[in-house]
Amino acid sequence: MVLYDDQLLLRSTPQDQSTYSKPYFASDPRKKKRALQMMVLMVIRILFVGLFIGLVFSDPPPVQDYCVAVTDSETYIPCKNSSLVTIEDFMFYGLNATAEFNDAGQAIVSVNVNTFPGLRTQGVSLARADYAVGGVAVPHVHPRAAELVWVLEGTFCSGFIDSQERVFSKVIQKGDVILIPRGLVHFHKNVGDIQGTILGFYDSENAGRSTFRETMLKCEVKEEHLEKDLGLSAEDISKVSGRNLNLCGKAEADSSTSPK
Ligand SMILES: *[C@@H]1O[C@H](CO)[C@@H](O)[C@H](O)[C@H]1NC(C)=O
Ligand SMILES: *[C@@H]1O[C@H](CO)[C@@H](O)[C@H](O)[C@H]1NC(C)=O
Repeated sequence: MVLYDDQLLLRSTPQDQSTYSKPYFASDPRKKKRALQMMVLMVIRILFVGLFIGLVFSDPPPVQDYCVAVTDSETYIPCKNSSLVTIEDFMFYGLNATAEFNDAGQAIVSVNVNTFPGLRTQGVSLARADYAVGGVAVPHVHPRAAELVWVLEGTFCSGFIDSQERVFSKVIQKGDVILIPRGLVHFHKNVGDIQGTILGFYDSENAGRSTFRETMLKCEVKEEHLEKDLGLSAEDISKVSGRNLNLCGKAEADSSTSPK
């Protein structure tokens, strides 16, 4: 906003009107300097607006009616030939059934661009998640989307943690909707006595999902970083992550010898 004010101020004096229309032909060095300042301000303003738009929209807006994703990595064509697109490219079947439950008592059917190519460029996706009694969604984040969670069946303790480490949580039940702000750590637990089902809606064709375990413990982060962050011993980390403590050293050696 300060940038706007400065710019208006510069433009509002008569001599600046002239530098604005003919910045490169001004002979007065003061005018030249002003013109330069104005150009810099303009660039900063464009960058600022770009950044703001980037924060508001998670996916870029489409530039055509639809773009049914194709996986033709040889030609790098991103969309299916539109003459070959049919109604079936806009259909997804399979939310009427429960997926297989994992060890945490959770079964997910993801309807994102990977499973439903018609979603490409549309900036939306969804997922069905079923939870056995006591089943949980371990704390995780969707880096590219806000999520609306609609409880179709059952009772859940759900919530999220903001970047100030404040926890927002509540017992929610059939018909309730909870908003999970973009990129924040969140969780669900089926605290009822029947199997529960929720639908998650995302403002991205591919919201992404990461958990602490996958990003910090399974990847090639050096143990010393984890030891400092978590206050755990190398043995504890090994126990929690189930990985060989030499993995990082090995991975580092591997990556330094492989061509990049
Ligand atoms: C798209 O498909 C139509 C019908 O098969 C074909 O005539 C056209 O050449 C195709 N366009 C491209 C860009 O491949
Ligand atoms: C789910 O819907 C599909 C397509 O509509 C159908 O073929 C399938 O039998 C249904 N499955 C169940 C379990 O209802």
